[in-house]
Amino acid sequence: MSRQMTKAPPSAPEGPREAGEEPRLVFGDAWDYAPAPESPDHVTIAPRYDLFIGGAWRAPRSGRYFDTIDPASEAKLSEVAEANAADVDDAVRAARAAYETTWSKMKGSERAKYIFRVARAIQEKARELAIVESMDGGKPIKESRDVDVPLAAAHFFYHAGWADKLDYAFHGRRPRPLGVAGQIIPWNFPLLMAAWKIAPALACGNTVVLKPAETTPLTALLLARIVEEAELPPGVVNVVTGAGETGAALAGHPGVDKIAFTGSTEIGKRIQKALAGTRKRLTLELGGKAANIVFADAPIDQAVEGIVNGIYFNQGHVCCAGSRLLVEESVHDLVVRKLRDRVATLRLGDPLDKNTDVGAINSKAQLDKIRQLVEAGEAEGGERYSSSCALPQKGYWFPPTFFTGVSQSSRIAREEVFGPVLTVLTFRTPDEALEKANNTMYGLSAGVWTDKGAKIFWMAQRLKAGVVWGNTYNKFDPSSPFGGYKESGFGREGGRQGLSAYVELDG
Ligand code: NAI
Ligand code: MG
Repeated sequence: MSRQMTKAPPSAPEGPREAGEEPRLVFGDAWDYAPAPESPDHVTIAPRYDLFIGGAWRAPRSGRYFDTIDPASEAKLSEVAEANAADVDDAVRAARAAYETTWSKMKGSERAKYIFRVARAIQEKARELAIVESMDGGKPIKESRDVDVPLAAAHFFYHAGWADKLDYAFHGRRPRPLGVAGQIIPWNFPLLMAAWKIAPALACGNTVVLKPAETTPLTALLLARIVEEAELPPGVVNVVTGAGETGAALAGHPGVDKIAFTGSTEIGKRIQKALAGTRKRLTLELGGKAANIVFADAPIDQAVEGIVNGIYFNQGHVCCAGSRLLVEESVHDLVVRKLRDRVATLRLGDPLDKNTDVGAINSKAQLDKIRQLVEAGEAEGGERYSSSCALPQKGYWFPPTFFTGVSQSSRIAREEVFGPVLTVLTFRTPDEALEKANNTMYGLSAGVWTDKGAKIFWMAQRLKAGVVWGNTYNKFDPSSPFGGYKESGFGREGGRQGLSAYVELDG
């Protein structure tokens, strides 16, 4: 695959320039990198995976398995058990038994040791986990290696620390575990979302049944192996693989005390309806259409890096992606020009190559959705810029793209694309920026870029978003609560606030 990202010859360090314009950076292929693929040779992916229930690997009662593929090559990686309602029932019973007999009775300091062990094992197996994550889901190895896996370990470390200090997390209240948590996770951060769900649940004394997404089940199954090797009591963590029906069976199971869901707003609403009137507790972490707001006084080059990170990180498969860029009008042309030059340097291709910036789209279905929304953007009169990078023949790919000249009401400015597609809008005053930023059904995250700290605080207080980043984007830490407003869901994950989703408070 060609890594040439621009058409200019290497002898032209500067691109064409209009009168009065700053020089443009056009590298041609002068900075081409040699391929640097991470070798998957030492990683063994089993040809088939069963369900992890009650501490044992069990064939599904359904008798059925489904394929999981590498979206960068469309090659089959493995086949995975499809859990039906009876399998889910087995898993919930195993989780209940473990809850009643061991886990809820164990001292917090003992639970902490197991959680700590899982954290250590994730670190020890970091390379394997990163490679499998990139193969199964298409994300660049530099992201799975430097973000997903270290953060997954960090969540277990952090929550191991809380397990024996819960009385201090809730002043004057006595926290009790809820029981069995059913946890349904998406395909964009498979291992990390498993960690976000499992670690706080276990720290608070709950047991879990985890349902990974159907396109990316492998790292959750490797995590189940880690749980097994760490000798957690059988049934404390159960993993049932399958698609929507398996998820629905788990959400609807009467033996589950709490459902934690991360995924689409549509399915989140469906789960909320199904749970209405039951005693089950629910947290939902759903979609987003975050405003990334760049003021004229911002350090523009840093802001451009933040824009790129905000939308092209993980191919834009990020619920908190900065997918709506709001630029102060006076710097619009400058920002767009710098953004176009920067996007032209992004390397798209083999997720296992350490130089890859943009990997494969997670699935054919997601690629179709991205294409459809981009077509709608063009039909609505938006001006499209896409990187001219070469796309590999096999697999699912979409070039980094942005739209200018878009109206607030267009689909591309309102709907979650969940792909490497940015919409650029403008504003003139902080009030207008705020009004446009909040004019969405979502409210998960936002970014503010400015030289003035006071402006960041002024905006952060008024933005209806669970997370607001100032002069940075996509920064995560287990101690920092994450979650949404409005149709982005409710409940927080991470920090002390995240613990409260897994406890009942007495007193
Ligand atoms: P989805 O919401 O269908 O999938 C998320 C998880 O829910 C998966 O594990 C899936 O198997 C499970 N699920 C599906 N139907 C279910 C049901 N009826 N009951 C219980 N669990 C169920 O998301 P999908 O279809 O993969 O993606 C569609 C769109 O959703 C994306 O294009 C994106 O816009 C958005 N999305 C948002 C995510 C986020 O983190 N906010 C994550 C994934 C998708
Ligand atoms: Mg896969």
